Amino acid sequence: MKIPEFENIYGRPPRWIVAAPGRVNVIGEHTDYNDGFVLPMAIERYTIMAADISRSSPPRIFIHDTRAGDTAQIDLSKPVVKGNPRWSNYVRGVVAGFQNRGVRIPPLDISLVSTVPLGGGLSSSAALEVSAATLLEAVTGTKMEPVEKALLCQKAEHEFAGVPCGIMDQFVSVMGQKNNLLLLDCRSRRTELVSMNDPSVVLLVVNTNVKHDLGSGEYAQRRAQCETAAKILGVSSLRDASADALERTRSKMDLSVFHRARHVIGEIERTLHTAEGIRNSNWPTVGQLMYASHYSLRDDYEVSCKELDAVVEICESIGNEGGVYGCRMTGGGFGGSCVALVKADAVDAITTKVATDYKVKTAIEATLFSSRPAAGATVIQG
Ligand code: GLA
Repeated sequence: MKIPEFENIYGRPPRWIVAAPGRVNVIGEHTDYNDGFVLPMAIERYTIMAADISRSSPPRIFIHDTRAGDTAQIDLSKPVVKGNPRWSNYVRGVVAGFQNRGVRIPPLDISLVSTVPLGGGLSSSAALEVSAATLLEAVTGTKMEPVEKALLCQKAEHEFAGVPCGIMDQFVSVMGQKNNLLLLDCRSRRTELVSMNDPSVVLLVVNTNVKHDLGSGEYAQRRAQCETAAKILGVSSLRDASADALERTRSKMDLSVFHRARHVIGEIERTLHTAEGIRNSNWPTVGQLMYASHYSLRDDYEVSCKELDAVVEICESIGNEGGVYGCRMTGGGFGGSCVALVKADAVDAITTKVATDYKVKTAIEATLFSSRPAAGATVIQG
């Protein structure tokens, strides 16, 4: 693979090239930090890092981000701390994770390119973290278990980006497999591949181009509300709560806390049913579960927004007859993307219709693309 950016910037070819994908979550939203199940897949959109050892003194990592057109420098002569530009914190956090394990990192020149849309709810941050971790593994000869690597990346996001995210994004960016969804039990951290090979359907991603920002505090607030609900229910996480038990404690909690818990408990069940539906290629059922997930995220969890709702409404109006089985917001919410399950032979017509109607409703241009389930992070060279 040729990375012209690296050669243009540094005047020599890179020694290592690695790639880590973004993800789309088919179902299981805001369940990961409740010890529940999620069902994401890696997408054919990648963050790619090309690198070579440098001679910089004092030792530092120099990263050129070709998309933003700016650069970051990470000083390796001391423990790595937060810094600027903001995106560099995802990499800084990963470097710190390696340093904490006693891994010696040599000075590096890096160029960074990405086709994962930023703020699109498709885990551009996890792709960046996992790409950095994959590169540091390759450069330093460190062999990390996939779970350990994903957790290191999650920690980077917690401590350097300030987002108390769950484990889904980093796990699927590390462990995604071609033609498979990843059913992840976020309590045991066990994964199961769910094959999605039927050529008659495809997942269509609709990026509303309304940027989402999980750092805004809403995400942390939802997480805290779930913990409150679990405490009132007397369980260690909402994974252990039933819908009946929740109904019985309804009067003991704030209405919003009740609603948050109702979403999580229902969503964990929907995720398992969806996995079953996919195994049986029961697309109408899977589609209905996706719509149900969206309504719950919109009404109970309150993480949707009018643009995401607009996409779902357009998909409903197209309906099964027009080739859309189901649609829902995907990722953290407050903007970002929807994912729709559509008939493969209708995908072009659906793409045009959704883009046109969305523009009419919101005056915003959406970006649409379909993706097969893709492979997780890989070393392409080196
Ligand atoms: C973000 C987080 C994930 C997960 C989703 C919501 O993508 O990074 O850990 O909580 O939101 O399902």
